[in-house]
Amino acid sequence: MQHPGSSLQNSSSTGSVPERVLVVGASSGIGAALVRQLASEGCQVAALARREDRLAELAADAPAQTVKVYRHDVLDAGEVPALLERIVGDLGGLDTLCYVAGVMPMVGPQEYDPDLDRTMVEVNLLGGMAWCAEVARLFLSERRGTIVGVSSVAGERGRRMNPAYHASKAGFSTYLESLRNRLEGHGVRVVTILPGMVKTEMTREIDKLVWPITPEQAARTMIATWRGSFWSTRFIPLRWCLVMAVIRAIPSRIFRHLNI
Ligand SMILES: NC(=O)c1ccc[n+]([C@@H]2O[C@H](COP(=O)([O-])OP(=O)(O)OC[C@H]3O[C@@H](n4cnc5c(N)ncnc54)[C@H](OP(=O)(O)O)[C@@H]3O)[C@@H](O)[C@H]2O)c1
Repeated sequence: MQHPGSSLQNSSSTGSVPERVLVVGASSGIGAALVRQLASEGCQVAALARREDRLAELAADAPAQTVKVYRHDVLDAGEVPALLERIVGDLGGLDTLCYVAGVMPMVGPQEYDPDLDRTMVEVNLLGGMAWCAEVARLFLSERRGTIVGVSSVAGERGRRMNPAYHASKAGFSTYLESLRNRLEGHGVRVVTILPGMVKTEMTREIDKLVWPITPEQAARTMIATWRGSFWSTRFIPLRWCLVMAVIRAIPSRIFRHLNI
């Protein structure tokens, strides 16, 4: 059972132990900020991504013994079961999965590139499904644990900007909701995070960010959300909830003429 607002976990056999968190997509942006914050609290963190140099820097800067790094490409879904088993062994168990990995290549208004589209779906949706499903099986067997998925406000509506990105995030949001409904009553919590605009490598080519926040702000709110019991779906910052309620209500025949 998790203490809301605390990095400590109860375990009937071992007493209170630091939260053990697996972060997929930990090498930059929101994922790296999560790792830094969790490590500073003394949590045990498994940090996964492809860029090993970035992961090594994170581990070197963190308090000793808090961050363990693993090179992993989420396109390699076949690796997930064995890697999860290894991580659970290294951390001595697992309390929380955070799937943060994502890509959003810039797509021109007249660009239609199936390879780019496939990569977005593979990283943003299929990679998330592979990790969430494997961890769901583990947590179900223990009747405990929290699965956190980072989707996006972009999944709330099909805007003209980048169809595959919007579709991948809509798919991930729906997958997480479905997983939450399945796991309800089995002791496993599923939390959906819907950030607005965060200043990271992903958004560095976007000229005007609306209500931008730092990855540290996003990470702080995420951690408070999964440790609290109130939100199962959390817009960050919260005002996006209201904005998206309005945007979702706009009829399609009007929405397609709006430059948003
Ligand atoms: N920035 C925003 O405004 C914003 C808004 C809403 C939602 N989000 C979502 O927030 C999440 C984090 O994005 P960010 O803004 O922090 O961007 P970021 O700094 O570009 O981070 C993306 C992370 O995903 C990892 N990743 C990408 N492809 C991967 C692959 N094939 N295998 C393993 N890891 C992979 C990257 O690691 P490697 O490249 O080292 O593998 C990196 O750690 C994404 O899901 C994004 O869609 C961002």
